[in-house]
Amino acid sequence: MAQTKLNIEPSRIPRHVAIIMDGNGRWAKKRGLPRLAGHRQGVENLRQIIKACVEFGIQYLTVYAFSTENWGRPEDELRGLKQIFNDAFSNELEELIKNGVRILHIGQRDEISPDLLQKIDRAVEISKTNDKLILTVALNYGSRNEIMHAVRKIVASGIPPEEVTEQVISDSLFTAGTPDPDLVIRTSGEQRLSNFLLWQSAYSEWVFPEAYWPDYNREELIKSLEEYAKRDRRFGKLSSK
Ligand code: FPP
Repeated sequence: MAQTKLNIEPSRIPRHVAIIMDGNGRWAKKRGLPRLAGHRQGVENLRQIIKACVEFGIQYLTVYAFSTENWGRPEDELRGLKQIFNDAFSNELEELIKNGVRILHIGQRDEISPDLLQKIDRAVEISKTNDKLILTVALNYGSRNEIMHAVRKIVASGIPPEEVTEQVISDSLFTAGTPDPDLVIRTSGEQRLSNFLLWQSAYSEWVFPEAYWPDYNREELIKSLEEYAKRDRRFGKLSSK
């Protein structure tokens, strides 16, 4: 079947898309499968979405893989997720590198197991000269935790209070150097921010497609991008139209 073409003028393509990949568990439940099957399908889907982002000329993609709150899940799901992340950082790396993807990680490093951390660091290191798509993986990430770390860093630097600007704060976050997201997508119909990029998404456009993450395919992404292209971003000012 012929693939749908993306019919949006280049200036209306978001530079940075961030995604809360929600609904893996419900996708699995609907099929009578264990939740981990949903997460595995989620990885598979992420691969397709990364490809589509490269194709559409999106420069930055940030995905919420594991939040600081996700530690509250049952032990067996945590163990399974750890295995899935380990596998993903091992098995998917070659193809990502081949496609020119650079990998970055945001989130609190301690609490991530040393073997997974080593894989993440390796992926970051060997992809560092790629620039087709900057893929930031938020893993053990929480926005409040990130802001707390930024405040600690700023205080420790001894900077005078009046010199603490918005830019200083942005530059102290895990996301330093990455532009703020233009579009944030949360799949599965849930409409919450769930501690994701709170500072960075102050002026982002949000869309909440109904599809569970494993079903959120290239066609769905096109719909989200079309929706974004119609929005009139005012950044608190008056319309440019
Ligand atoms: C949400 O589904 C998804 C997660 C908790 C994260 C897992 C994401 C993946 C496995 C995708 C791949 C990511 C990487 C970086 C390899 P949920 O469990 O909250 O679903 P539910 O709300 O239906 O229960």
